[in-house]
Amino acid sequence: MARNEVSLSVIKADVGGLVGHAGIHPDLVATGEEELESAKAEGRVIDFHVTNCGDDLQLIVSHGHGDNSAEIHGLAWHVFEACTAVAKKLKLYGAGQDLLADAFAGTVRGLGPGVAEMTFVERASEPVVVFMADKTSAGAWNLPLYKMFADPFNTAGLVISLALHDGFKFDVLDVRKNRRMVLSCPEEMYDLLVFIGAPGRYTVQAVYTQDGEIAAASSTERLNLIAGKYVGKDDPVCVVRAQSQFPAVGEVLEPFSFPQIVEGWMRGSHHGPLMPVARKDAQCTRFDGPPRVSALGFQVSDGHLIGPRDLFDDPAWDKTRQECLVLADQLRRHGPFEPHRLPMEEMEYTTLPEVAKRLESRWETAG
Ligand code: F6R
Ligand code: MG
Ligand code: MG
Repeated sequence: MARNEVSLSVIKADVGGLVGHAGIHPDLVATGEEELESAKAEGRVIDFHVTNCGDDLQLIVSHGHGDNSAEIHGLAWHVFEACTAVAKKLKLYGAGQDLLADAFAGTVRGLGPGVAEMTFVERASEPVVVFMADKTSAGAWNLPLYKMFADPFNTAGLVISLALHDGFKFDVLDVRKNRRMVLSCPEEMYDLLVFIGAPGRYTVQAVYTQDGEIAAASSTERLNLIAGKYVGKDDPVCVVRAQSQFPAVGEVLEPFSFPQIVEGWMRGSHHGPLMPVARKDAQCTRFDGPPRVSALGFQVSDGHLIGPRDLFDDPAWDKTRQECLVLADQLRRHGPFEPHRLPMEEMEYTTLPEVAKRLESRWETAG
């Protein structure tokens, strides 16, 4: 890593719920804090913040080890194991659920936890926003990232400010074929939308300025593809740098005023609105949802995390929340019917095929 660079890693896992999949026990946050406090005292990390969104434990860590560091991923794995031990003792629901491997193997990628991380030279003032979602999957950030970095109806700076006027580059991952394509906006906007409009297949894994400066990074882990079966939802995270040559904090948050319909919710099998909530409301109770997102803002100062500010803890989001509740009702009334339930091909990685298999012998040739 070059001098003056700082890395920000947000690593999350569901290691046990209270109750069911609604939220987590405060002892898990406390254990995470104790472990990271020791790592900080040993100089392994610069700073940290531990929190949760729904039943997912979130480790927000600043450090000097760069992206995909075995040191930091190993530390996160160790913290998740320590928290799993607490979850098991308390018999929390699904203790250790997202730790899909028996042991750490150099990176947490592919082992169950979700990771969004970036490394940058800290600016004179460095505002960042950490988004955390529960009961939805990795592609949930496609639409908001598109709006933040490519839509002038969302981000006034794309039109008004010379610092943003050249647009941004989107790094798109094809999660099924494990290949990527970088598309530049505004000139390749329509090409970008060909792919990211299908968030189950393509996810925006990072956004860069035209000069290659990192602007946003998101977790792309698809738990069901890793495990080959339904093991819970990805519940993704995303980090976005704000202000100056990036969208303003208000432009970064603005996409969430639209109640986007995402996949996830009950049993990872339903469409529902993504509700922006304050941290205190980051618990999923109605039909295990509806899916929700919370946003913590930090000023990074010599690698230290100043904050957080709970950005959706503001009545300005009440109307969106209300719209989400109306949409939630509308979708819920479909019960087991599409489009509330996901289409059959997307139910492939849920528990539904097992039920269909049991009925296989009942089919008779028609006509
Ligand atoms: C969705 C989620 C929950 C569970 C549901 C059933 O991501 O975690 O909606 O799918 O509560 O859970 P089990 O099968 O563990 O009883
Ligand atoms: Mg859970
Ligand atoms: Mg979760």
